[in-house]
Formats: sequence, C-alpha cells, structure tokens
Amino acid sequence: MSQNQKALFIIFGGTGDLAYRKLYPALYKLYKNNYLNENFAVIGTARREWTDEYYQNIILDSIDSIKTSEQEAKAFAGHFRYQSHNVNDTDNYHTLKKLADQLDEEYQINGNRIFYLSMSPNLFGTIAAHLRGENLVNENGFNRLIIEKPFGTNFNDSNDLNNDILQSFDEEQIYRIDHYLGKDMIQSLLSLKFANPTFKHLWNKDFISNMQVTLAEDIGVEERGGYYDTSGALRDMIQNHVLQIVSFLFMDEPASSQSDDIAVEKVKALKNLQLITPENIDDKFIRGQYTTSEEEPSVLDYRSEPNIEADSTTETFVAGKVESLDKNWEGVPIYIRSGKRMKDKETRIDIVFKNEPSNLYEADELSENILTLHVGSNQGISLQINNKVVGHNFDIVPTSLDYKMNEQTPDDYEKLLLNALQGNKASFVYWEEVAYSWKYIDAIREAWDADSSNLLLYPVNTNGPKEAFDLLEQDGNYWVW
Ligand SMILES: NC(=O)c1ccc[n+]([C@@H]2O[C@H](COP(=O)([O-])OP(=O)(O)OC[C@H]3O[C@@H](n4cnc5c(N)ncnc54)[C@H](OP(=O)(O)O)[C@@H]3O)[C@@H](O)[C@H]2O)c1
Repeated sequence: MSQNQKALFIIFGGTGDLAYRKLYPALYKLYKNNYLNENFAVIGTARREWTDEYYQNIILDSIDSIKTSEQEAKAFAGHFRYQSHNVNDTDNYHTLKKLADQLDEEYQINGNRIFYLSMSPNLFGTIAAHLRGENLVNENGFNRLIIEKPFGTNFNDSNDLNNDILQSFDEEQIYRIDHYLGKDMIQSLLSLKFANPTFKHLWNKDFISNMQVTLAEDIGVEERGGYYDTSGALRDMIQNHVLQIVSFLFMDEPASSQSDDIAVEKVKALKNLQLITPENIDDKFIRGQYTTSEEEPSVLDYRSEPNIEADSTTETFVAGKVESLDKNWEGVPIYIRSGKRMKDKETRIDIVFKNEPSNLYEADELSENILTLHVGSNQGISLQINNKVVGHNFDIVPTSLDYKMNEQTPDDYEKLLLNALQGNKASFVYWEEVAYSWKYIDAIREAWDADSSNLLLYPVNTNGPKEAFDLLEQDGNYWVW
C-alpha cells in the first residue's frame, strides 16, 4: 500500500512560534519519509503581510538543521503558499477558498483538507464557522480540524467552545492535540498493560500499591509569563497531560484497538475520579510557587519574573493524590506531581507493586517491584526486582532490568500529524475526556480560589515543598524519584 497521503493543510497561525518550531519540521520529516510526496500543499495564514517567497524562506529556515539536501528542502518549501488573513474578516475566507481550490487542482489532492488552528483558542469558534460558512469545508474529500491546547480554562467555557465548533464540524472530524499522546512511552502504556499477561493480570488493587506520575521541569516560566500567570500548573499541565496519563493508568482493557473503543475506557476512568472537596483539599493536593534559594541566589523567584504580578498567587507546582471510585482501584492512589524550577528535568511514570510475605525472606529484606516508564529524553522502561547478590551468599538486593530505547523515534508532532492524515484518532483527545478532566480540575480550582492560604513556597532547584513529600508519607509511601 502506498504511504503517500494526499492533503491540503491550511495552517491558521502560520507565522507563529508553534508552526515554526514544530509543525514545519514535522511536515518536512513526513515528506522526507515519503508519507507526503507530491500530492500535498500548505497554506500558511496570519495577519502579517508576507509574500510566498518570504514565507518559503521561513520554511527553509525552520528545517535548516534537519534537512538532508538543499534540493529536497527547496522542493518541499515549494509546496507552501502564504495568505495574509484576518480570521474575523469574511472576505479573506473567499480569497482563501480560491487559493485552496487552485492548489487542490494543481497538486491533485482530491479535496482532502486539514485545518490546523495554531492560535488563540478564543478564535477557534469564529474560524470553524467561517470555514463552513464560506465553503472551505470540501464535499469531495475528508475535512479534519486540528486544535491546540488549551481547550478552555474550565468546564463551562470549554463546553461553550466545543459547542461553537460543533456547529461547523462533527466530533469525528475534530482532532484535539495533547502532544504527550504522541510520545512513544505514553503510547507504550497500552501495549505494556494489554499485550503482556504478566502486567495485565497484576494491574489492579491486589498487586499494585500506588502509581506515580512526575512531569518535572527545571526551567522557570521564561517568556511565557503573561500566559502562565493566568493559567498556573494545574491548568497548564495537570488538566491535560497528567490526567491523560492517569486515564491510561486506570483504564480497563478496551473492546478493540479502535480509537473510539479506547476513548470509551479512558472516559470511564476519568469519570470515575473521586472529586476533591474544599474539606479534603489540604489532605489531597499541594500547591507551591518557586522562590529564591540561598544556594542559587541569581535565580529569580516566580514573582520577579517578567510579566508576572508582584503579588501573584499562581501555582508553579502541584502535587496530588488522585483516587478512583472504581472498586478495582480501591486504596490505590496515583500520586501526581508537576512543577517548574524543580531540581531536574524529568518525565516518568512509576508503578509500585505490593510486597508479599515469603517463607524465605523477611519483609524488610525485600524492596518493592517497581516498573518505571522513562518518558523524557532517556526513553525506556525499567523494572526493579529482588535478586540474589552475586557470589557465595543468598542476600537479596534490588536489581534493575533496563530497556533503553536507542532508536531515533519520530517527533511527537510528526506522529500526530501522520495520525491525523490517516484518520486515526487514538492519539487525540475526545470531547468527553476533556469534559471530565475539567470537572475534576474545576473542583480543585474552586477550593483553592476560595482560600489562598495554602499556597506554599519552595526554593528553586528542589522537588517542591515538604508537604508534597508528607502527602505520601502519611500513607506509608514515598516518591520513587
Ligand atoms: N508554542 C508552543 O510551543 C505551544 C505549545 C503547546 C500549545 N501551543 C498552542 O498553540 C497555539 C499557537 O501558539 P504559538 O505559540 O504559535 O502562538 P503565537 O506565536 O502567538 O502565534 C499566534 C499566531 O496567530 C496569528 N494571529 C493572531 N491573531 C490573528 C488574527 N486575528 N487573524 C489571523 N491570525 C492571527 C499570529 O500572526 P499575526 O500576528 O501575523 O496575525 C500568529 O501567527 C496556541 O493555542 C498555544 O496555546 C503552543
């Protein structure tokens, strides 16, 4: 079967940071790897007055460090056109339609269209309505709408946003990006749980003590201060990436590998999360903000960063204990943690198994079996087991079986764009997943907004406030990392 996909991409926000850093390099890699051959074209749009030539030079610049040859890069950039376009201006869509129809014919694309909304979510509804109203949605081929995070700031406004988009596109045409779903190790959660009898049969409350999700960054807010100060770690990281991982960890086996069946189980897992209340929030969730440290006096505290309010109560760190109402998961928390200016950059998932009594060994001789997915730059899987020491005696030592992924893996956006081209939604977020995630987050946000006294400060280069460690210690557990 030919790998060649046919599509016209229309990228809204074509002059933006995401398009430059992620989308153009991802499209180039698909081109280089023959997923896109000759039957594709890209229209970049934004308000700036750029010419096609200027735009094509931007494309060449964005792929400069990954191009295989000058000639190939130029041939690729030749598929790009630019149209200056204000998304609120109806006339602009008429010009866009003419250009889209012309490119469709020139590159024999058969009417397939991918609209990528790489811009502020408050413009998504307007764009979707114009695409339908001005007939850019093509009756001949497929029409897919890719939208970026953040998808709203709470349940109500994400619901409004969704209803706006649904006026023009069906749920099956909407591809909501969470780029963590393009990561190999997150995708591996399904195969790990359901392709291995060893884990499949142990993945429940009888054998698992707790699970841990850590998304730690060692950088501060950098140039994103203006956005971040209105968002905070809870909305920026927990509502999307962390809860997506939680849904995979708690989900039951889907009826099939079809994306709709996978989504059914993820939705069920998210729906079953036990909501936090103002009464129990201090026992279950910790929020922190980074401050200066005596060891690193040159690193700014959060409130001194550019574009941050001097009295900001925005959290840059969240740790929490996520629990399920599902009987199969009774007593098995997922401890989650994400923050900025932590001591290292680390993304990992740890599954801590229960220790069992043995006739041969005392309980204190044994360590827990721990399965770790290394999601960040050092991608791989490790399993800590109890093993006999090498040599004459029979003492037990924890030993790690390590698999390190040495292969060059495709970039997250490369994989997600290919999935969108192929019509595979398994690595995109369904509306109900968004809805239940927001309901979970809203309960926490409301409790925190009603009382800001529990905002804790943590020095930069640490793994958060002491209370984030107490959260586990009070249950007799500890952070693996
Ligand atoms: N950057 C990232 O790494 C990243 C990561 C995850 C998610 N995202 C999400 O991706 C989206 C894009 O992010 P970004 O960082 O690329 O933002 P950005 O650099 O600010 O780009 C915004 C784009 O929108 C265009 N634009 C703004 N108003 C417009 C209007 N009325 N009509 C037409 N075009 C308009 C801008 O171009 P003109 O000024 O020329 O009009 C620009 O191309 C956002 O939703 C963001 O949250 C970004």
